[in-house]
Amino acid sequence: MKALVINGPNLNMLGTREPGIYGTETYETLVALCKDSGRELGFEVVEVYQSNHEGAIIDKIQEAYGSMDGIVINPAAYTHTSVGILDALKAVTLPAVEVHISDVDAREPFRQVSYAGMACFARVTGEGLAGYRHALELLRDRLQG
Ligand code: DQA
Repeated sequence: MKALVINGPNLNMLGTREPGIYGTETYETLVALCKDSGRELGFEVVEVYQSNHEGAIIDKIQEAYGSMDGIVINPAAYTHTSVGILDALKAVTLPAVEVHISDVDAREPFRQVSYAGMACFARVTGEGLAGYRHALELLRDRLQG
């Protein structure tokens, strides 16, 4: 099992960025958490990718076709705007889980729309960084089921 974890804009600033909402752990901690959790859950590969650019994220999703078994994605702000990311997820037909660090449904109304989520079989929100482990677990169960 090979998983690709994709993080969208500003998630590289975890630890500095709005700590009251996103916590004080850094992006490096998140990468380590994903890799360690993935290993424990039985993944042979967990690649963790971050970009601030919509097109780069779309390219990465397309590259996963044929080389990865599933995707965990936090499209960050692009969650609420990007039909391009939605279409890329639909195009590759890989099982995907949407994850958000914060409880997006309890925040501003514009955060309550998720385009990417329309191509995901599960959604994890408001669990902090631990939500990525949860998302990988859901992906593992789907791939093994
Ligand atoms: C986020 C929520 C988004 O609304 C926001 O734009 C982010 C992070 C989250 O993980 O809680 O950048 O995806």
